[in-house]
Amino acid sequence: MTSNWTPSSWQALPAMQQPESPDPAELERVLKQVASLPPLVFAGEARNLTTQLGRAARGEAFLLQAGDCAESFDEFSADAIRDKLKIILQMAVVLTYSSGVPAIKVGRIAGQFAKPRSSPTETVDGVELPSFRGHLVNSPVFSAAARTPDPERLLAAYHQSAATLNLLRAFTQGGFADLTRVHQWNREFVASSPAGQRYEEVAAGIDRALRFMAACGVDTETEPQLHQADMWTSHEALVLGYEEALTRRDSLTGDWYDCSAHMLWIGERTRQLDGAHVEFLSGVGNPIGCKLGPTATPEEALALCERLNPDRVDGRLTFISRMGADQVEDRLRPILRAVTDAGHPVLWACDPMHGNTFTSESGHKTRHLEDVLSEISGFFAAHRAEGTWPGGVHIELTGGDVTECLGGSTEVLAADLDTRYETVCDPRLNGRQSLDLAFRLAELLSKQQR
Ligand code: PEP
Ligand code: CO
Repeated sequence: MTSNWTPSSWQALPAMQQPESPDPAELERVLKQVASLPPLVFAGEARNLTTQLGRAARGEAFLLQAGDCAESFDEFSADAIRDKLKIILQMAVVLTYSSGVPAIKVGRIAGQFAKPRSSPTETVDGVELPSFRGHLVNSPVFSAAARTPDPERLLAAYHQSAATLNLLRAFTQGGFADLTRVHQWNREFVASSPAGQRYEEVAAGIDRALRFMAACGVDTETEPQLHQADMWTSHEALVLGYEEALTRRDSLTGDWYDCSAHMLWIGERTRQLDGAHVEFLSGVGNPIGCKLGPTATPEEALALCERLNPDRVDGRLTFISRMGADQVEDRLRPILRAVTDAGHPVLWACDPMHGNTFTSESGHKTRHLEDVLSEISGFFAAHRAEGTWPGGVHIELTGGDVTECLGGSTEVLAADLDTRYETVCDPRLNGRQSLDLAFRLAELLSKQQR
């Protein structure tokens, strides 16, 4: 944080990837309205998440951050939210049951509506239009009107985030995440697959463990940990006007929090040390993440630590590396070493998605599960070599039976990609592939020295 940080101090710095609204007065009016609406999360919750993430940074827990690449205004239903929660709960159960390490569940959900783009425009049949930047900004439909940034979308995103968060809270506190319901999280198309059957064995083991505890005299009925779960929210803090409008001073501590989500992260394209995004997130009290791509150097990582976590608070800063399967070991190791030698407490998470994307012959943007798993293995190997703790993963997935990524124990082939390719941005693992990943991760975790 610069000594004169304010929620708007980022405005004096270059801000990449911002929408260019054709009507600044209208944007101003909407931002004022967003600023007058209630916060979506409470500062105390963000502090609790920092404490949890601190445990993961120290090797006592594991971060499972997962959800859509981009949430959609068109896929907004109780069923879609419930199905995403189900797969994340299933993955967390597999991780914890198989490795004994508690999983901290953070969704890319309830606010993940803005996308950075490699190119500001897209050309189709000789027509050039602004790129789609997520439903917070414009529409993916290829017309000049649909691609023009519309400030009203900020309000729609706020309300969809509020409703999504409300349902997540209801599900996780109201009995849906109860450990006696582990079988019911397994959906038909997952349950009938090899991964789903393996999951049933884990669920049966949990049943036995609960019966065992009850038989030993533990009152399993009243133990809240068995009946409720925490599901935190997160998104990329990209459109800074929106984030600023939801930044509020905590009445208990006097500190500023970005109350649009519990955790916010800085993307690979906006992590410039002297840029607006780093400035903005340096001053809010939330736990924050920062992506590190293959060009990131140890010096940059150290400078980001100094800038984003000068007080060296455990759980405050998560580095999310996304190097690509071939590069992760070589690129990550010197960064792990430099940050550890400098004594900075960082939670290290692996995004095995964004460094492994390619375009299939059919023209679909896709990823192969084997590459994804291979980056995770390389990430673990780098940590083994440096004596550090691989504290988490960051995954793009959905609960549904989509065909967007290749591979898996129920294999999605190149010819299947067109069948149910539904993402509005990057390709997501489907429910079965997500469970495959959880089992592989559990094996790696149980082997890792703590
Ligand atoms: C993303 O997480 O969807 C994304 C755009 O990632 P990155 O900033 O790592 O490219
Ligand atoms: Co993505």
